[in-house]
Amino acid sequence: MTDFDAEARTWDDKPDRLERSRAVADAIRAAIPLRRDWLTLEYGAGTGQLSRELADDLGPVTLADASAGMTEVAAERIVQSGLVGWRAIQLDLMHDPLPTQRYDLVLSLMAMHHVDDVPRLLTALAELLVADGSIALVDLDADREGAFHEPGFTGHHGFDRAVVEQWLADAGFGAIRFATPYQVVKEVNGQPRAFPLFLAVARRGA
Ligand SMILES: C[S@@+](CC[C@H](N)C(=O)[O-])C[C@H]1O[C@@H](n2cnc3c(N)ncnc32)[C@H](O)[C@@H]1O
Repeated sequence: MTDFDAEARTWDDKPDRLERSRAVADAIRAAIPLRRDWLTLEYGAGTGQLSRELADDLGPVTLADASAGMTEVAAERIVQSGLVGWRAIQLDLMHDPLPTQRYDLVLSLMAMHHVDDVPRLLTALAELLVADGSIALVDLDADREGAFHEPGFTGHHGFDRAVVEQWLADAGFGAIRFATPYQVVKEVNGQPRAFPLFLAVARRGA
């Protein structure tokens, strides 16, 4: 299991992560007419790179992550970036009670494959949205050989889009659309290999 607490301090040092966040931010902007009067939750936010890339298009954002280290760094980035009304909270919806705040938009980038029970997570995220709130989920497409992660990785080796679509529908989402915002290129057996990411956009109750 990746030790996100240990990685938090240097998470933002990798240029390819920033490139990924920027590409995903562009895809979300193209898919959803974002509003500055919306309240947004980014779940599994890490240091909050994705939301910070969207800061000019969004109102206040809550950066939520299970890792204490990531939450600490995310809080520092909020102050450094002068993001008024933003906050960072340590939250694991698999263990913690559902917060009482409701959001207009939920974002998540590369966090879902670390969560065992994704249908349960999607149900919790739907409950955190207002009646017609939107969700934008970005994660790894199905990686059948399990080549993206190191041996011993215990999460999901990506997802089939049809399965994600069904999970979203079961959690009460409609108007579900997919796009391919980015491909992560990694060396596998000495050769570069592209791992596409999906963006799933949906609306609660649509
Ligand atoms: C691959 S990192 C992605 C971080 C960030 N979204 C980014 O793209 O830079 C996965 C993040 O999900 C968080 N995470 C893993 N399991 C989680 C859970 N059950 N609840 C909330 N966050 C979780 C980790 O702590 C980590 O910050």
